[in-house]
Amino acid sequence: MCGIFGCVLREGKAAPLLHEALKRLEYRGYDSVGEATVYNNKIYVKKDAGKIEEVHAIENLDDLPGSVGIGHTRWATHGGPSKVNAHPHLDCTGKIAIVHNGIIENFMELKDELIDEGHVFVSKTDSEVIAHLIEKEVKSGLPFVEAVRNALKRLEGSYAIAVLYAEQPDMIICARKESPLVLGIKEDACFCASDIPAFLHLTRKSVVLENGEIAILRSDGYELRRISDGAEVHREPEWIDWTPEMAEKQGYPHYMLKEIHEQPQAMRNAVRLQEQYLDLMATFLDRAQEVFLVAAGTSYHACLAASYMFSKLAMRTVHPVIASEFIEEYGKALNIDTTILFVSQSGETADTLEALEYARNRASTLLGLTNVIGSTLTRVARAYICQQSGPEIGVAATKTFTSQLLVLAQLALRLAKKRGKVSQSEIDYLEEEIRKMPSYAEEVIARVEDKVRELAQKYYKKNLFLFLGRGISSATALEGRLKLMEISYKPSLAFPAGESKHGPISVVEEGVPVIFICPRDETRKEIKGNIMEMKARGATIILIIEEGDEELKSLADDYIEVVKGVPEILSPAIYVIPLQLFAYYVAVLNGLDPDKPRNLAKSVTVK
Ligand code: G6P
Repeated sequence: MCGIFGCVLREGKAAPLLHEALKRLEYRGYDSVGEATVYNNKIYVKKDAGKIEEVHAIENLDDLPGSVGIGHTRWATHGGPSKVNAHPHLDCTGKIAIVHNGIIENFMELKDELIDEGHVFVSKTDSEVIAHLIEKEVKSGLPFVEAVRNALKRLEGSYAIAVLYAEQPDMIICARKESPLVLGIKEDACFCASDIPAFLHLTRKSVVLENGEIAILRSDGYELRRISDGAEVHREPEWIDWTPEMAEKQGYPHYMLKEIHEQPQAMRNAVRLQEQYLDLMATFLDRAQEVFLVAAGTSYHACLAASYMFSKLAMRTVHPVIASEFIEEYGKALNIDTTILFVSQSGETADTLEALEYARNRASTLLGLTNVIGSTLTRVARAYICQQSGPEIGVAATKTFTSQLLVLAQLALRLAKKRGKVSQSEIDYLEEEIRKMPSYAEEVIARVEDKVRELAQKYYKKNLFLFLGRGISSATALEGRLKLMEISYKPSLAFPAGESKHGPISVVEEGVPVIFICPRDETRKEIKGNIMEMKARGATIILIIEEGDEELKSLADDYIEVVKGVPEILSPAIYVIPLQLFAYYVAVLNGLDPDKPRNLAKSVTVK
């Protein structure tokens, strides 16, 4: 999730505006920054790794010449944070400059094709192919807008781009597929940006670019067209009356709620992994004598869910372990035949890094799954996967959790394939279901939010909650409990439901809310028994169930229905969504700020 910005001014310098806009987009990524302007038919570029003000202190971003420019603030996904990988990227002639937010899935194929045709690449990014593809189309004699449109048609994946062309210095072309892009309109200027806060101080007139549209921006106006056939599109600007603070959260009152709503998009990115990384990781996991998954907090819950995925799909035992316990519990047993997958959103959690360092000294194979390229985990691990969720600002992990689950499911499936443990038809089915997960998430958020808010209203004063699930849903229960506890400070318990009669049931009395996570899976008979046990003790039964599960509804005091047909191994990423929303609304109703829970930090870098 990077931030892009473009501006075409009738007069005055573009560079200071780019600089200011990029600062406002820095929340979308901050590992490198760059700007390009066009002046006297020449492209000028400044870029480097580091935060905007660090790069500005050395480069002086504001002295680029010209009234037309583009800028980028990066959250690395392909290629680490460095000067060459920073945007803008140029074509071979230096006349075309592009900035890109998104993921080009087929960039390897395109890059090979372009290299064969003589193009020279300088970066490791997926984005650079866009500049060279446009160059290729321009060389074939097409007018520039057509060249860009043709190049875009070859891209698979997601993008929001802005393009400068030295030969047409009075305009910017921008376009989008999935990644967001909005236009800002003024009498004597046009802007494009990943998000409204970038230009809210300059204009309140805005046009949202829809998927599959391309826009030509000039200082005196904009034209919209469809990428597919070039047909003109007419859309009038809307007036934005958000305060700057609201704009930063895209109109949501808190980052946490915004990030819960960003899950479908984050999931789309999580299913766009490069095949060869998945394959490499699966090979390491396959060869190992023993596999551990090591993590803290929410990332540990993703590992716990993953242990069910690996055993059910790939028939491979993996041991999920809490990072702070790993050395004590398994340290002495580690050796060269051990493979450990460290899962850490930040890649910097102290307990996880300590376990990593310990295992490194024992010559184990170290793998990583993280959201931050350039983090310590990515530097130390032998191989890593980036989950590509973009920055998460709310302390409570939401979108990064569901994306971790999706990456781990793909890894388990890849390992299953490698080991020949699942039939082709099951692989096809699960791959299709993995692709559907972003739409399932979208549907669930749209469907359950009002109902969850009502439930929060009903229960927010309760002082004890229990979360129970069986099988893979015991991980969902733990995560639901953690969300509620960390932001609303409600003492809560979570257990595999079968274990509840070995202790937790003793705290249950009349009216204690017990939340069961009940996808339709093999544990159904047992979970019904556990619900009855709690009911018999006067608990208030709240069920998270599949849509239309009439039998379970009849046992509930309250229920939330999610979508039908989600496969068991993927269910935590869907069934956790109502629990995230429940935690959020309970916190808000209790007058608490869910983005800044007391005593907690986003990244815990102390042991
Ligand atoms: C902190 C955060 C949690 C996070 C945990 C592990 O406790 O508040 O949201 O799950 O650290 O962080 P990591 O970056 O390693 O996933």
